[in-house]
Amino acid sequence: MSAYEFIDHKFDVVVVGAGGSGLRAALGCAEAGLKTACVTKVFPTRSHTVAAQGGISASLGNMGEDDWRWQMYDTVKWSVWLGDQDDIEYLTRNAPAAVYELEHWGVPFSRTPDGRIYQRAFGGMTRNFGEAPIQRTCAAADRTGHAMLHTMYGQALSKEVEFFIEYFALDLIMEDGVCMGVTAWKLDDGTLHRFQAQKTVLATGGYGRAFLSCTGAHTCTGDGGGMALRAGLPLQDMEFVQFHPTGIFPAGCLITEGARGEGGYLTNSEGERFMERYAPSVKDLAPRDMVSRAMTIEIREGRGVGPNKDHIHLHLDHLDPKMLAERLPGISETSKVFAGVDVTKAPIPVLPTVHYNMGGLQTNYHGEVVTKTGKNADAVVPGLMAVGEAACVSVHGANRLGSNSLIDLVVFGRAVGLRCAEQLTPGATQPELKAAMTDGHMARFDRFRNASGPRPTADLRLEMQKAMQEEAAVFRTGESLKSGVERMAAVVAARKDIGISDRSLIWNSDLMETLELDNLIGQAVVTVNGALNRTESRGAHAREDFPNRDDDQWMKHTLAWFNDATGKVKIDYRPVHSYTMSSDIAYIEPKARVY
Ligand code: FUM
Repeated sequence: MSAYEFIDHKFDVVVVGAGGSGLRAALGCAEAGLKTACVTKVFPTRSHTVAAQGGISASLGNMGEDDWRWQMYDTVKWSVWLGDQDDIEYLTRNAPAAVYELEHWGVPFSRTPDGRIYQRAFGGMTRNFGEAPIQRTCAAADRTGHAMLHTMYGQALSKEVEFFIEYFALDLIMEDGVCMGVTAWKLDDGTLHRFQAQKTVLATGGYGRAFLSCTGAHTCTGDGGGMALRAGLPLQDMEFVQFHPTGIFPAGCLITEGARGEGGYLTNSEGERFMERYAPSVKDLAPRDMVSRAMTIEIREGRGVGPNKDHIHLHLDHLDPKMLAERLPGISETSKVFAGVDVTKAPIPVLPTVHYNMGGLQTNYHGEVVTKTGKNADAVVPGLMAVGEAACVSVHGANRLGSNSLIDLVVFGRAVGLRCAEQLTPGATQPELKAAMTDGHMARFDRFRNASGPRPTADLRLEMQKAMQEEAAVFRTGESLKSGVERMAAVVAARKDIGISDRSLIWNSDLMETLELDNLIGQAVVTVNGALNRTESRGAHAREDFPNRDDDQWMKHTLAWFNDATGKVKIDYRPVHSYTMSSDIAYIEPKARVY
């Protein structure tokens, strides 16, 4: 029996997270007449989608002919055949409608001279099944995520989504494998809450902060993934971590791929445009995994720039300053603030930086969380859904294409709303919650609240971040990953040594950061274990000891469970969906890499 009292809430749907996917899911549910709550640890417009820059992909064809099948082909190919093809079909077919919906809601997209949505080039986007690069990424200057988030927050308010702002979600309320809601801690007054719902939607984003240098906000701690692992659910394909080629050196802030889409290019210490060697046809607009590897090789071989030869230059200084002010104002400012660089006059120092987690909660294209149960690799977990970076649908497979994330948020956020509308009856009776369902949540909360060990949270977090950055980097080896597994096991064991100094329940950032760290740790552990286990190279997972892709052995998804009590990881697999939703598209056969 817990000493903590709960305030209870009952909704049809509770969405955890108010980024792009959470807002789109919540407003869709509310629009369908479902009583919908959105529980978020930050103010909605501070969610990390606000930092998304370059754009949102959709085959609108505003800059030349385009076709959703061409986008599907690119997405399957650059997922390195690990993406599920039915889900990718759903994504790319529905992308244009999702972008027009945003436009009609008021997203201030940049415009072509004749008034259509402006689209820029991004890596890996081609016309006619790989024939030539295409401009497919719809942009609102370089503040596309900001524009989307503010617009969707307004829409969600107009549809009467009920927001619970600065509530930190603790754990999933589960009974007999069914999700019944979530517990949360209200940060500003210390009260504790149970949100019961017919469907709980995790839209909690990625866990980039498991690494030392990432483009994600400090809030990107993948809380939904942590909760899912504690609920005994597996996470899928966690070994695939995307490094964005152009994080500002050394701060790590994002410089959009749109900078290269508008004509920017990378150089080494010899002033050479080295991407011409690595990817002669697409050059600087090769997919991110390739550019990040090329930059790392240049630095390793002594051709990095700067006094320590440890980074690379990104040039925009040859481009028209008027165009830079109009289309890339955000990164022009960021470069000034974080690197002291005037982009019209000097190159920006950049380095590959952790940017996106391809892995997450396994879902189908309705947003329902699925798991492997006996022979069924796709058994629905009743009551639980996931969307956005927290989820692994899987449309990105081993490597996400730039601008395919924002479209993922809104297409699958919309899908969640449609599924809930289809399956739920507004106000339907829900079973009574029992104290035993949440006693474990509060025991964990209380343990950390009263932790009195010798290690400050920040100290253990740094140990984890260094281990992940050093051992699960752009290039990995069996040796580095074994070391990563050992170093993370030490971090798991050191959780008992954590000590926090604030015991209060009101604005206790020490406790919140500890709970976030605990969420990160489980995900970091399954990441390094999954990476050690996968003895091939595919997309963002580049093993120097296994440099080739091995479709015979490894064209399958990794599922990883984390035992929170013992720190042990269990790994299993599920097949890739190598089929499409419709009969008019052929399955896309794996082919050798061609760039
Ligand atoms: O480079 C960027 O603007 C990032 C876009 C993305 O990750 O999709």
